[in-house]
Amino acid sequence: MIKKAVIPAAGYGTRMLPITKAQPKEMMPVVHKPVIQYVVEEAYNSGIKEILIITGKHKRAVEDHFDRSDAPKKDRFTEELDRILDDISIFFIRQKEQRGLGDAVRYAEAFVDDSPFVLMLGDNITTPSCTEQLINTFKKYKSDIIALEILPEHRIPFHGIIKGNEVEKDIYRIEDLIEKPEPEQAPSNIGTLGRYILLPELFDYLENLKPGYGGEIQLTDALRKMVKDKEIFGKVYRGKRYDIGDKLEWLKANIELVLEDADFRDFTDWLKIKMCDLLLR
Ligand code: UTP
Repeated sequence: MIKKAVIPAAGYGTRMLPITKAQPKEMMPVVHKPVIQYVVEEAYNSGIKEILIITGKHKRAVEDHFDRSDAPKKDRFTEELDRILDDISIFFIRQKEQRGLGDAVRYAEAFVDDSPFVLMLGDNITTPSCTEQLINTFKKYKSDIIALEILPEHRIPFHGIIKGNEVEKDIYRIEDLIEKPEPEQAPSNIGTLGRYILLPELFDYLENLKPGYGGEIQLTDALRKMVKDKEIFGKVYRGKRYDIGDKLEWLKANIELVLEDADFRDFTDWLKIKMCDLLLR
């Protein structure tokens, strides 16, 4: 039913400097693969057939990564990606200036046309698939659905925070949204997490948006206007989400995902010994 995904991947990546000085943060490796490959695979495994990746300056490596590999010998992760690439179409468009997520999404208008679409931040991994949970919720509510997570207080200033009414377990009717508030100003401890299902009316709300938090055009500000006019729902994601655009989260993602990986049993054994050393210190 939802066949299109939009992946904004044009941000600066200042939190990952100097790693991101000359390479896109979406190419940050997480165990076997760059983060954006996880995002494309999440889309593909949810039935998406067409993907638009929004890139920009210094992001050419992202486009190259989604060419068919010409390596003389391929590992199974490369073969898997080649197989996916045979089955979907990936398009690219360049954001002319890095003016914020809301501005980046505007570049998807022609691609989206009149279909609902999934919006997936290109630097976030979810496991199990958050997109699948959103699509299941969309089947019931048939309206815009925003993925949510319950946050500890110290994380509130880093997220869009919602005010909402729980209409059934884990589903909120959203009444307001605020981008990165201080905890005292936050209407709740429930934040957005970088996965959305959106209807094309969004583009009307993105037009003529003024710069908001941090001087950037904010997607949250468009959604904030939208909730005044129509019913929009939030779904609390049940699973693990990693923001790879943050150094600590990136390190944690590597450790947690490697521990689940049968190819890296030796690493697990090494880590256990290391942990014992640390505990004895
Ligand atoms: P972030 O909030 O992580 O911003 O963007 P950023 O600029 O990429 O990174 P920092 O904060 O400087 O470290 C959230 C998402 O929006 C995209 C990013 O690529 C990321 O997927 N984005 C952001 C754009 O595509 N264009 C922009 O102008 C800004």
